[in-house]
Amino acid sequence: MNAPVPIDTSSPAYSLPLDRYDVSDPALYQNDTWYPYFKRLRREAPITYVPDSLYGPYWSVTKYKDIMHCEVHHEVFSNEIGGITIEDFPLDLQRPSFIRMDPPKHDEQRKVASPIVAPANLANMEPLIRERTRLVLDALPRNETFDWVEHVSVKLTTMMLATLFDYPFEERTQLTYWSDVAICNVRDPSSPVHSEQERFEELKKMAAAMSALFNERRNQPPKFDLLSMLAHGESTRDMPLKEFMGNLSLLIVGGNDTTRNSMSGGLMALNQFPDQYRKLMANPKLIESLVPEIIRYHTPVIHMRRTTSQDTELGGHAIKAGDKVVMWYISGNRDEDAIENPNDFIIDRARPRQHLSFGFGIHRCVGNRLAELQLRILWEEILPRFPMIEVVGEPKRLYSNFIRGIRHLPVRIPG
Ligand code: HEM
Repeated sequence: MNAPVPIDTSSPAYSLPLDRYDVSDPALYQNDTWYPYFKRLRREAPITYVPDSLYGPYWSVTKYKDIMHCEVHHEVFSNEIGGITIEDFPLDLQRPSFIRMDPPKHDEQRKVASPIVAPANLANMEPLIRERTRLVLDALPRNETFDWVEHVSVKLTTMMLATLFDYPFEERTQLTYWSDVAICNVRDPSSPVHSEQERFEELKKMAAAMSALFNERRNQPPKFDLLSMLAHGESTRDMPLKEFMGNLSLLIVGGNDTTRNSMSGGLMALNQFPDQYRKLMANPKLIESLVPEIIRYHTPVIHMRRTTSQDTELGGHAIKAGDKVVMWYISGNRDEDAIENPNDFIIDRARPRQHLSFGFGIHRCVGNRLAELQLRILWEEILPRFPMIEVVGEPKRLYSNFIRGIRHLPVRIPG
């Protein structure tokens, strides 16, 4: 494994002139070489205008407090005008969902989906999540190398998706496939689709498969699954096709990729910081603060984008209406002015929930407590079973500037 924080002094981050800095290159995240770039940006140019990138001009926001400013001023920093990713999508292929909306429509649709993660429903789901986690862990081989992502992270999150949608369990891998389609970078040769048109066509198939269930549930009494909730919600029951596709993709990706990568990222972090792994084994009560620290340290969503609805000012910079503003959560979570020793993975921080991984403000992640629950159960079940799970090779990472994904992670459990 790499040293905890790979500071490579030969990195171009130290020699490139700042006006040539563009942190939108997905290779930075696939190679995990982003640290020094953001370190220098935070110090020398925390808010900076990038006039030319693969995704056109954009403002780069790298410090915790400036990101928070954009998050809480949603009337200026809009999700609806340009979407949530640095990449713009062709108008005819856009799929609106409530994360790509501003109030009032955002608030109405969010209200429809949020009961799925109400405390009472989480408590209802806990025994099922625990039972499945036990089964998955008990089936793991000893003394041989296997892929943690395939055997644990993907399996558990796929089962969770089937539960959230009350989707036929034996067909659940379709949900993971659609999640991968919805989130992949079409320029990555290993992606399941290679153009926006192809992505749109695949997601149309998802909508077709889901619409039968959606219509069925509309004619049944309301239940506690996402399809039933959308089918009965006043602001969602008659969604046009593209909005149906958009909201399904949002809920599938939201519930899947981010949690999956936290399951892998947490194990990696504990292996990078063996003193913390030992501390955890000696005191399992620390799982409580371990979980948010995993989510901060891994930062599963690398950035969110906003578009300004009016001329404004941010940290002394004049930003024009219609400009693209990218909030780099991955950098805000490593901001020395907001988080003590941010490059260290410390499982007993005093305020572990002080991070940007779930965003903030009106779009703050609706599923944050569900994600934490899944991770808590995973570690509660791992600790009594296995003395140590060793990462035995380098992870393979996703080519993406949006999702910090781990595609493969070789591990071994000593028997
Ligand atoms: C929104 C991260 C798990 C559903 C978001 C946002 C982030 C995020 C960064 C946008 C926040 C903003 O713009 O201010 C994460 C991470 C997760 C996770 C890191 C796991 C570790 C989940 C789960 C669900 C979910 C399990 C499923 C139910 C959503 C939805 C939104 C959202 C529906 C849109 C909220 C809105 O626009 O009002 N999430 N998420 N997420 N997330 Fe999550």
